[in-house]
Amino acid sequence: MDALLARLNTAAETVWPSMNAALMGAHPTDPGASAGLTVEVLPQMDSTNSELMRRARAGQAEPVLLVAADQTAGRGRMGKTWLSQPGDSLTFSLGLPLQPQDWAGLSLAVGVSLAESLGHLLKRPVELKWPNDVWLDGRKLAGVLVETAHHATARTVVVGVGINVAHVPRQWSATPLAAGGWPGVEPTCVADHQPQADAADVLQAVAPALLRDVLAFEALGFAAFVARFATHDVLLGRPLRLSDGTEGEGRGVDPTGALLVMTPQGLRTVHSAEVSVRPVGAAGSQAC
Ligand code: BTN
Repeated sequence: MDALLARLNTAAETVWPSMNAALMGAHPTDPGASAGLTVEVLPQMDSTNSELMRRARAGQAEPVLLVAADQTAGRGRMGKTWLSQPGDSLTFSLGLPLQPQDWAGLSLAVGVSLAESLGHLLKRPVELKWPNDVWLDGRKLAGVLVETAHHATARTVVVGVGINVAHVPRQWSATPLAAGGWPGVEPTCVADHQPQADAADVLQAVAPALLRDVLAFEALGFAAFVARFATHDVLLGRPLRLSDGTEGEGRGVDPTGALLVMTPQGLRTVHSAEVSVRPVGAAGSQAC
């Protein structure tokens, strides 16, 4: 654990200057802007998202990148759990005040950012499964949990990211967590493709671009990410079945981030993140 913390601290020091400069350029008048971005690396906490949500609700709006070597109550989307052992996954949250004209599509923009950064790191095409699961070779590599909190007139976004770094043992991947890919398919991890890379390398690879992309989203909205999403969209042109039983073919996403599905009744726009999208022909329930 000490070695992991030292590596994460070094990575945090490395990413801070460019991230801070990007933030100060975009948000010169924000609360806390004079202090700029804080980067914190902690050995253990319940959940980096929960911690930044608590701070935001208490009125702490200062931009922060919070990295945990270990989470005891990591959370995923739709009430799922993100379970991992120290070093097995990189877990962090980025919290900052944000004022986009339209919030629609933010979590997809985050997915685009991660897919691009991880693709560069792994030198392989990294895919996105709507809305924002990050996949490699049809197996889940990373997940995103975006939450927002209001305090007075400010709205703070907390972007939580979990990336599988080291091999996920079967007993972890068999739980309904983090790592869902196609039903019954084991998750993948960075070390499957870059055995030397650790959580600190991954942090350096993804965090600066993530902040730049969140700031780009604030300025330009999801429309600026639609074409980038399409280059990673694993559902594009694929036969799909929605959770209500409707079958169709993936037709990409619209400028609000909604999934477009061509069904026998015509083009359907799927907004809800609660909709589960599965490839037709995949049997069984999601194991991981
Ligand atoms: C998902 O795949 O459902 C999203 C998983 C998000 C997990 C990350 S780990 C860091 C941050 N803290 C949390 O409790 N969750 C996110």
